[in-house]
Amino acid sequence: MKPAQVVALANQKGGVGKTTTAVNSAAALAEHGFRVLLIDVDPQGNATSSLGIEKTDLDGTVYDVVVDEAPFAEVVLAAVRPGLDLLPSTPALAAAEVELVGMAQRERRLAQACKAVDQTYSVVVIDCPPSLGLLTVNALTAARHVVIPIQCEFLALEGVSQLITTIDLVKRRLNPKLDVLGVLMTMFDSRTRLSAHVVDEVRRFFPDRIFETVVPRSVRLAEAPSYGQAIAEYDPASRGGVAYRAFAGELIARLGLDTPANGSTPPQPNATLPLTDHAAR
Ligand SMILES: Nc1ncnc2c1ncn2[C@@H]1O[C@H](COP(=O)(O)OP(=O)(O)O)[C@@H](O)[C@H]1O
Ligand SMILES: [Mg+2]
Repeated sequence: MKPAQVVALANQKGGVGKTTTAVNSAAALAEHGFRVLLIDVDPQGNATSSLGIEKTDLDGTVYDVVVDEAPFAEVVLAAVRPGLDLLPSTPALAAAEVELVGMAQRERRLAQACKAVDQTYSVVVIDCPPSLGLLTVNALTAARHVVIPIQCEFLALEGVSQLITTIDLVKRRLNPKLDVLGVLMTMFDSRTRLSAHVVDEVRRFFPDRIFETVVPRSVRLAEAPSYGQAIAEYDPASRGGVAYRAFAGELIARLGLDTPANGSTPPQPNATLPLTDHAAR
């Protein structure tokens, strides 16, 4: 088996769709038959609760792994869905941001833990917190690839230069192979000119990096977590469901993942409306 492809969803801005993208792409990849681990590195634990996991019932979290070096096997929630394991998080993880400061190898603790499961999974998806602190640096050090979700809103690119600077720093000092796999535009509203304008602006900033799939603003995507469900479970035929399926197809292609023997054929990228179609309106 090839070592796991580790992908971090990062953007220090909150509310841009990191967690929604992490949960729904991890679920979609598992549906395709890949062995997937989702790591929730945000103390808010939104990825954990989005999958319907009750945080009060947890024996251990990512905190135990990064701070106390607990073995993955003791903490991982196996098969929260077929093919999908979860390393959950709770608010207690917030303390790690402070406690890590004085620790040896403080930036590499998640990376070291991930090495142990390199051969267990095809893909590891890491949901980062909305900051550029040590938890995000740990995620970027553990990852091979970064996906940057950007919301189609005013000031979308605000802070992105700082994120790129952090990624470059991690690359130089800690993780030379790290790359930006792509930028995913989220919450696209076809009724506003602003959305199309933002996509153009981001395209100028990241030529060739934007994923073809653009995730529309969709109430169904916002509702699904309150039912503890991925969009593929809650409403697969919704526009958000179609978009995240298409995005998973693009991820499979960009990561060069081999379709598992028992998996279904990945969807074709760009199953959503082409952008020009929206922009014309
Ligand atoms: N495409 C979308 N359409 C509508 N609501 C969305 C969409 N993506 C995310 N949301 C909602 O927006 C909020 C922020 O998204 P989230 O994924 O939690 O962002 P982040 O993890 O970057 O803070 C959540 O309430 C989520 O349900
Ligand atoms: Mg989040």
